[in-house]
Amino acid sequence: MSGKVHVMDHPLVAHKLTILRDKETSVKDFRELVSEIGMLITYEATRDLPLTTKEVETPICKTTAPTLKGKKFAVVPILRAGLGLVDGVLRMVPGARVGHIGMFRDEETLEPHVYFCKMPKDIAERDILIVDPMLATGGSAEAAITEMKKRGCRNIKLMVLLAALEGIHRIQETHPDVDIYCGAVDDHLNEHGYIVPGLGDAGDRIFGTK
Ligand code: PRP
Ligand code: URA
Repeated sequence: MSGKVHVMDHPLVAHKLTILRDKETSVKDFRELVSEIGMLITYEATRDLPLTTKEVETPICKTTAPTLKGKKFAVVPILRAGLGLVDGVLRMVPGARVGHIGMFRDEETLEPHVYFCKMPKDIAERDILIVDPMLATGGSAEAAITEMKKRGCRNIKLMVLLAALEGIHRIQETHPDVDIYCGAVDDHLNEHGYIVPGLGDAGDRIFGTK
């Protein structure tokens, strides 16, 4: 069975994504919106975090109330554009650890190459949320998930702002145990591997490099 695709069905995400798509949106606004949408998708991607209970004393009385069980969690941005999503995740899960995975894509073949990987020591024991704004051919995400599995990680989710069907199908085929959380699904890629209509080059727009 392939992993589930959770497409955000929320007016705030839809509205903010439309501003991201607009080529006139400034670098500052783009960066802020990536972080905000990241926070909103994290809300959905953490829906199954286990809870326990604890005793608290309200101003009225003592009670037993839910609290996070403190399961170990790590967010793993794919460099560089994934960095734009880290802050949004950490605002929702402040205790999360952060692992970095650096990847560049061959401009001809679009195939990714891992050039950097720095993870918390106990990464194999953690639930992993890999983050990247774009899932296009799916090559980068596939390689990132493979790297995490090589390090012993078993509970992995992928969070992206925009996904193309091609990328979704690739992850479902190569890593059927991984659920995908995305802001929206666009239907195809152009001849350069860009998502259409998409939002352009996410890294360039977050960091202002073009
Ligand atoms: C972008 C994006 C993904 C990748 C998606 O990164 O952030 O990592 O492309 O494409 P794929 O699904 O076809 O692999 P890019 O390689 O442009 O690097 P950057 O983050 O440094 O801009
Ligand atoms: N990477 C991007 O940044 N944008 C796309 O549309 C595809 C890959």
